[in-house]
Amino acid sequence: MITVPDIIIAVDGWSSTGKSTFAKLVAKHFGFLYLDSGAMYRGVTLYSLENGLIRDGIIDTEALKASIGELDLHFERPGDGSTCLFSGTRNIEKEIRTMEVSSFVSPVSAIPFVRCWVDERLHKFSENGRVIMDGRDIGTTVFPDAELKIFMTASDEVRAQRRYDELVQKGDTATMEDVMKNLKERDYIDSHRETSPLRRAEDAYELDNSDMTLHEELVWIQGLMQGKFGILG
Ligand code: DC
Repeated sequence: MITVPDIIIAVDGWSSTGKSTFAKLVAKHFGFLYLDSGAMYRGVTLYSLENGLIRDGIIDTEALKASIGELDLHFERPGDGSTCLFSGTRNIEKEIRTMEVSSFVSPVSAIPFVRCWVDERLHKFSENGRVIMDGRDIGTTVFPDAELKIFMTASDEVRAQRRYDELVQKGDTATMEDVMKNLKERDYIDSHRETSPLRRAEDAYELDNSDMTLHEELVWIQGLMQGKFGILG
């Protein structure tokens, strides 16, 4: 029997650089499992908001610590090729993408016990096979020995426009100013927190997609996949 080696591809980078779009494309093209680590932090944030653990902008960390063990966050594939985050039997993929969740997710994800809890789950979800995971610290902390690491960047303007278009499409009424402010705040918190701050792993390949089409990104990764693993796609 031919055994398929486990391969982890870590995709990190600034918010709204198109990490998930890129990772989903790679997953589909090369038959990898896609895991969105940011969704897990968003899930914890949604849970905190819905259960009164964030009041007047303050996170009740003690209450969150006491109840985080009850949270059943996991990914399911509804069958249309997408991967959705579930809390128990509830699909929360839409609820975790609102501006309200976005405005609290960075402080929630900076809490060390939250990071430990999420990391444990990410390891469990990736036990077998070929996985591509996107986030902020996948190549530096979660999987420091990942077989391939990619660090994504793009200009602030391009990133804000992408995020704005995404929100408008979902019917959110956020302004471009709100989006730019949230983007900069998240960049700052994500890269300055004490536990696993966002930074480029030394052995990561940088992908600046400010002026690239998705097809060009695919051509770029095809070269790497062939060169590193001999995988043609
Ligand atoms: O990728 P995203 O925007 O959905 O991520 C939401 C937040 O979660 C982001 O502001 C930072 C945090 N995050 C993190 O700290 N570490 C990760 N591996 C993934 C996301």
